[in-house]
This record gives sequence, structure tokens and C-alpha cells, in this order.
Amino acid sequence: MRKKHELPAVIPESVGIIMDGNGRWAKKRGLPRSLGHSKGAGVFRDTVFNCRDLGVKYLTVYAFSTENWKRSEEEIDAIVNILREYLKKAFTEFKDENISVKFIGDISPFPQDVISEIKRLEADNPANPDMHLNVALNYGGRAELVHAFKLMLADVEAGKLSAENVNEETVDNYLYTAGQPDPDVIIRPSGEQRLSNFMLWQAAYSEFWFDNVLWPDFSKKDLLRAFADYANRDRRYGGRK
Ligand code: IPE
Ligand code: IPE
Ligand code: MG
Repeated sequence: MRKKHELPAVIPESVGIIMDGNGRWAKKRGLPRSLGHSKGAGVFRDTVFNCRDLGVKYLTVYAFSTENWKRSEEEIDAIVNILREYLKKAFTEFKDENISVKFIGDISPFPQDVISEIKRLEADNPANPDMHLNVALNYGGRAELVHAFKLMLADVEAGKLSAENVNEETVDNYLYTAGQPDPDVIIRPSGEQRLSNFMLWQAAYSEFWFDNVLWPDFSKKDLLRAFADYANRDRRYGGRK
């Protein structure tokens, strides 16, 4: 009989995942890094459904950073090809399953067919999704802030905004994630204990869950372990008990 996992008492409303460890997973098996990315993409698909089934409302996954262009052309091409395949299949499946999809980051350097497909998907999102999925692609927390400041300054120049009215909520409204709750928990597999430029503004009070498992091995059990630990966190936001 299949063992049923015990459900954590509290499910985070908003989750961030840094999907790391694909390369090491492949290397350990003597495989090309691209195969690690393929396996990781399958785990991404499963994790989206697992989060939705558990009741997560907002999921942001880190798929490609502004720094990942430092990788070889061969590796970047492999990632773009997997993205292409997923745009055609998995992302359409998400929409059919009432999950809305948004890409955060600057998608302009990607090939035109990829950009068109992303725009097509985003234009046709469910009105009342069970879960909002953000895919961070050519995303960096610093780049997001620079982008926000540029938009904000343009509004100041156009007379739509004045400096004295700028507060934290204003900044929030210029981010890619405007209108969404900050991540309650950020999960990073692969053993690295850093943000690597992920959601710098939004992570101010996020809880962290670091795990040694490599992303292509990340299972529902690992997700539930992260959530079970999160359920016991004491979030004080600077106040006292
Ligand atoms: C994460 O896995 C995927 C991307 C950054 C695109 P990595 O490719 O960083 O895997 P490791 O960290 O080298 O094992
Ligand atoms: C962060 O992982 C980016 C993604 C998972 C997409 P990296 O592998 O790029 O981060 P570093 O280089 O270990 O900090
Ligand atoms: Mg990595």
C-alpha cells in the first residue's frame, strides 16, 4: 500500500523555490548537464501540481537568473529548448488545471518564438486561478529593483507620482510581483545557503528552508518536510511575544 504523507498543520500561502542542483545531479551520473535540466524540468511540473494540491496560492520558481548567461552556449541552448517544450505542453496543462502563469524578469533576450509563446500564455490566464505561478526567467532581484526604479522615475517625470508619496507599498507596486503576497517560505535544495539574487525585496521576512537534496531528486516528501518545518516557525516580524 502507498504510504500517505501526513499533512502539515499550516500550508504557506506563498512559496518561493530556487530550483538548484541540476548540473551536479547530472555530473554525479556522468551525464551532460542538459539531462539534469530535463530531469529538473519534470520535477518542476510535478512540484507545481503538488503545491496546488496542498493549497499553496502563490508559487514563484527561479528558473534562470540574470547571472546564468555566464553558462556555456551549449547549456543555455539546452535550457531554451526545454523551455520551448514546456511552453507548448506543461504550461498549457497548468492553464487547463486552473493555474495562472506569469513570467517575471526580462524575457527580451530570448528567441522571438519563445517570447510570443510566453505572451500568448499570459494573455489567456484563468480569471479565478487556484494558484498563481510565477516563473522567474532572466530574473535578478537587483535587476527587478532597477526596473522598478526606472518605472517609478518615469512616473515622477510625467507628474503622476511625487517623491514625498513614495512608501514601501509604492515600491512594491512597481515590482514584477505587484499585488502578490511576499513568499512565506523560500526553499533552496542542493546544499547552497544563499539567495543568489532571488526576490531580494520580497524576502525581507521570508522563512528559509535549505536542503541537501538536488533539485532533480526533489519529491513531494521533500516539499512536505519543508512545509512541516515551516508550520513550526515562530514569525515575529520584529515584534515580541
Ligand atoms: C539550477 O541548476 C538550474 C539553473 C541555474 C538554470 P544548476 O545548473 O545551477 O545546477 P548546479 O548548481 O550546477 O548543480
Ligand atoms: C540560482 O542558482 C539560479 C537558479 C536556480 C535559476 P545558481 O546555481 O545560478 O546560483 P549560484 O551560482 O550557486 O549562486
Ligand atoms: Mg546552481
